[in-house]
Amino acid sequence: MGCTTPFGGLCKMKTIGVLTSGGDAPGMNAAVRAVVRSAISLGMNVIGIRHGYNGLINGDITPMDIRSVSEIIHRGGTALYTARCPEFKTEEGIQKAVDNCKKFGIEGIVVIGGDGSFRGARDLSIRGIPCVGVPGTIDNDIASTEYTIGFDTAMNTAMEMVDRLRDTTQSHERCSVVEVMGRHAGHLALQVGVAVGSIAIMVPEIPCDVSSVCKKIEATRKTGKKHFIVVVAEGYEKPVTDIAKEIEATTGVESRATILGHVQRGGNPTVRDRVMASYMGNAAVELLKNGIGNRVICYSKSEIINRDIYEALQMKKDFDVDAYRMADSISL
Ligand code: ADP
Ligand code: F6P
Repeated sequence: MGCTTPFGGLCKMKTIGVLTSGGDAPGMNAAVRAVVRSAISLGMNVIGIRHGYNGLINGDITPMDIRSVSEIIHRGGTALYTARCPEFKTEEGIQKAVDNCKKFGIEGIVVIGGDGSFRGARDLSIRGIPCVGVPGTIDNDIASTEYTIGFDTAMNTAMEMVDRLRDTTQSHERCSVVEVMGRHAGHLALQVGVAVGSIAIMVPEIPCDVSSVCKKIEATRKTGKKHFIVVVAEGYEKPVTDIAKEIEATTGVESRATILGHVQRGGNPTVRDRVMASYMGNAAVELLKNGIGNRVICYSKSEIINRDIYEALQMKKDFDVDAYRMADSISL
């Protein structure tokens, strides 16, 4: 256990692991790179664990050197692969993971993923493998942090896609009802809805029925508006196809439904995601260097901080109701 840093300090861990888990998010690669390079700079060894917690259970690992993370900072996806791993939630599965950590000399792990992945990190920490979570998900639905890696890229991708839809919507004087991702949350839909100048934003957090959207369409038609974009979070109660049919039947405006889907998860990360991922990956290694685990890296009030995983997982994320109201007031 432990090693000396190139600057004479002491690292409490000699070998750490890094994995990406849950849905991939643009910027995860930049985070992996930061973890690997920060740890090696400090004199630690790094082991890449492939396919999320599956890799820990099956011993699917690879030693990482400084060149192993070359040419990935600008790429979407995750070079370590990712997965959802139901077996990890079983006592048998997690015991296999702990045994493999011991077998491969992994003393601590940086887990890059969402809340589900953090629950796994908490369970490993309890069993003596200190873990630090780094928030990576396009949904920005993690309560403990104001920002998650991938959110900025996904917002920009969705905005660009809706801009394209807008051209055809405008030419045909139609209504486009567009579904964006976000799992159970409407954070992505809200930002995208504002950015594309939508007539309405439908999210699970705020009551908004289709009839009120139709009223808005009818009212704005009277002021000369001829085409309409409605942005709907995937967690909203009704499918976009039904919403589009209802709008067409009520208002007479020809309507089309579009589901943006997984395109939102891909693509080169934006500057914000690359930089955030680099800071967060580095911060995670700084904790493990000092033997500190059971923490998650968070962005709060313009700073990178860390919190206890238990406390982080208890937190509830507020929806930005003021921003929602503002969006409504300028979509006329
Ligand atoms: P995300 O990390 O993006 O929220 P998931 O919810 O799918 O994605 O979780 C990713 C993985 O984390 C799961 O496949 C599982 O291996 C692990 N995980 C999720 N929830 C738990 C839990 N309650 N306890 C332990 N591990 C969990
Ligand atoms: O959490 C990211 C996310 O893309 C959600 O927005 C979406 O609900 C889910 O993952 C889709 O998961 P999958 O890639 O397993 O279909």
